[in-house]
Amino acid sequence: KSGYDFVVVANRLAVDRITTEDGGTGWRRSPGGLVTALAPIMAQSDGAWVGWHGAADETLEPFDHAGMHLVPVPLSEQEVEDYYEGFSNATLWPLYHDVIARPEFHRHWFEAYRRVNRRFAEAAAAVAAEGATIWVQDYQLQLVPAMLRELRPDVRIGFFNHIPFPPPGLFSQLPWRHSVLRGLLGADLIGFQRESDARNFQRVVRHRLGYYIKSDQIYVPSEEPEPDQLSSLPGLHPDPARGTVARQAAAPQQGDYRIAEAKAFPISIDTQKIVELAERPDIIARSEQIRRELGNPETIFLGVDRLDYTKGIRHRMKAYEELLADGELTVGQACLVQVASPSREGVESYRLLREEIESTVGRINGEYDTLAHTAIRYLHHSYPVEEMVALYLAADVMLVTALRDGMNLVAKEYVAARKSGQGVLVLSEFTGAADQMRQALLINPHDVDELKTAMVKAATMEPENARRRMRSLRRQVVSHNVQRWAEEFLERLAELR
Ligand code: G6P
Repeated sequence: KSGYDFVVVANRLAVDRITTEDGGTGWRRSPGGLVTALAPIMAQSDGAWVGWHGAADETLEPFDHAGMHLVPVPLSEQEVEDYYEGFSNATLWPLYHDVIARPEFHRHWFEAYRRVNRRFAEAAAAVAAEGATIWVQDYQLQLVPAMLRELRPDVRIGFFNHIPFPPPGLFSQLPWRHSVLRGLLGADLIGFQRESDARNFQRVVRHRLGYYIKSDQIYVPSEEPEPDQLSSLPGLHPDPARGTVARQAAAPQQGDYRIAEAKAFPISIDTQKIVELAERPDIIARSEQIRRELGNPETIFLGVDRLDYTKGIRHRMKAYEELLADGELTVGQACLVQVASPSREGVESYRLLREEIESTVGRINGEYDTLAHTAIRYLHHSYPVEEMVALYLAADVMLVTALRDGMNLVAKEYVAARKSGQGVLVLSEFTGAADQMRQALLINPHDVDELKTAMVKAATMEPENARRRMRSLRRQVVSHNVQRWAEEFLERLAELR
């Protein structure tokens, strides 16, 4: 076999390891939206998925599962520490999320990042057929596009950034900013969640590299000029005092350039699947059981997040606590269910966050619980999607208070599940989802009073008003599912070369 026509490269493999009934190990397709969207395309077009299988110091042979060819990329324990927990999740993650936590810059982390990115690029290059399409996913692998272009000039390369792309002033803090920009510019198409992310990227490319950009198309010179030779490019005016290029290049001559397009493709969810689950009688029954178990409160507020400092969990608890203190809400009549799924527990800022959230929950519950009712039902678990949909059906108000979020798919899942048209979404304006979901109650999570007002408004909203908003939100989510997202990206990528 001469290789695969469609190759996805992502930090995580598309399958999770499970323990079978007889105690052995097996694999199950991962439940996430990305895998759901790409699996049918994989099956149709003879696809391979290159990714890390999640364990350190373990090498696995490639295997086939669920209609995909899977290529596990090994990471040593040290690489998990330096590439995954370190550079990906303690440097890039906080830097790209408005430095909500302070990013750490360590040269040996970046060295590991480069080394591991090369391993992913080589694995993808080795399985791709002549002229294949390779789609690289997310911030963990930003150097892969340029590495692939070098290894395999014959392939089409797409990249999608699932998280925000920071404004130039923040991105410029990164000591390896040029390597990252050049890595990304190896792709033919670079996708972002929001228009503003694509714009941030274009601005930093113009500002740092001086490349000519027109209608989202970046003219990348085939010979990369050294920073001190920038003045030899036509129309370039480097600003030596700041080491940056003050003005962008003039329109380039034909031939010496290739095009990299940078554009927004907002991701979505597998709407159909959520809608179907929300109609299943056993899941509806489970949602009623949840309400009973919580003591049939008038208003169930729900938060569902990875336990991450970008999600604004603390902000929502503060608002809720003040509403209890003011007497605007009372325990028994209201309840907050917070699902916080365990995440990146090897990273210090995540461990500290967990301690903080759990002591806050303990304090609020200690203050406001009664023998019969609890103020906050806090669940540090991940649940199967069936249970999540039952929770969406049980919740009157969904709270999405992220301080910064590439998209936030929970907001979209909640809306997809609410076919009845009831239920209110309170949504942070700092999520990608807020660009499309204008009929939510949009809030600034830093403004505690605004958040409190929105929570009360959501809890007491006239049913007709709530239904009107939900109908409009649902139209958006139903017509833009994740399958359409993948198709639009891949169609554009096919047109480009
Ligand atoms: C975000 C990122 C993904 C990542 C996921 C879970 O959604 O955009 O790339 O896979 O979080 O994080 P983890 O570190 O567990 O893969």
